[in-house]
Amino acid sequence: MKKIAILTSGGDAPGMNAAVRAVVRAGIYAGYQVFGVTRGFQGLINGDFVEMTLGSVADIIHRGGTILRTSRCEEFMEEKGRLRGLEALRDAGIQDVIGIGGNGTIRGLYEFSKLGVNTVAIPGSIDNDIPYCDMSIGFDTAVNTVVSAINRIRDTATAHERIFIVEVMGRESGHIALTAGLAGGAESILIPEVPFDLDQVVERLKQGMKRGKLHSIIVVAEGCCGAYPLAREIQAKTGMDTKVTVLGHTQRGGMPSAMDRNLASRMGKRAVDLIVEGKGNMMTGYQGMKIVDVPLAQVIEGKKDIDLDICEIARILSI
Ligand code: F6P
Repeated sequence: MKKIAILTSGGDAPGMNAAVRAVVRAGIYAGYQVFGVTRGFQGLINGDFVEMTLGSVADIIHRGGTILRTSRCEEFMEEKGRLRGLEALRDAGIQDVIGIGGNGTIRGLYEFSKLGVNTVAIPGSIDNDIPYCDMSIGFDTAVNTVVSAINRIRDTATAHERIFIVEVMGRESGHIALTAGLAGGAESILIPEVPFDLDQVVERLKQGMKRGKLHSIIVVAEGCCGAYPLAREIQAKTGMDTKVTVLGHTQRGGMPSAMDRNLASRMGKRAVDLIVEGKGNMMTGYQGMKIVDVPLAQVIEGKKDIDLDICEIARILSI
């Protein structure tokens, strides 16, 4: 019987479990034996494989985190580590590997495929910075988590007539900040992709106050500028009490949204289909609401841009 390995790697994202469930069930349905790899690429190197059954993925579709656990594995970035992974895979008689994760995971799978292993990547990252993928698994849930935090902050910000800086994750990208900032009605959204002028930000805050705004929310992406120094400068320039909330890892946890579960289920099924069709070294992308196949080599070379039209909409609507 043919064998597939499934792993989750890098930062976890809500919906990864739904993707694991989809791969296991679609794989067994297609007549494969499916093995879960514990702790991502580290588990691959160590040969930590556990056979998955239909029941082993029951009751996980709604759970955040990843039942397979995850890691950021330095060793797999080196060829020596990947060769150890190859040996472990060969010893277990496994031919194909499906990996769920972000850009680091996709690069790892791409490098691994050069050793002759059939790999398929499923994009899972709250950052939504993966090329050829309108939405990666976990992004929708993370955005909803940020928006509900902004809703709560808004109440206390109004009560005290304060400015709040809400720092969100996203590494070097501003997709979470932009999408949650627009949905949360933020006064300003600061992201690494678009340079900003602090005096203009302050001017907008002052204009808002003049018109009787009781609070202001600024959403800042972690890769843009430090939230605390920014708050000090804004407080000094506006004379208004300015507080910082860093949402941090709350954005990674929690129950995945219906959007993320459906995306994960569709991508997981397509990943297995790709293996069945003998089309390895691909990513299950998402474009125009459709799951599309994208060669890993193309993803590695690609870059995901921020939508400047959305930046403009957010700017106009927050006057
Ligand atoms: O890539 C997902 C992410 O949550 C980023 O937004 C963040 O910068 C990073 O991972 C944090 O990683 P860690 O949990 O390893 O500190």
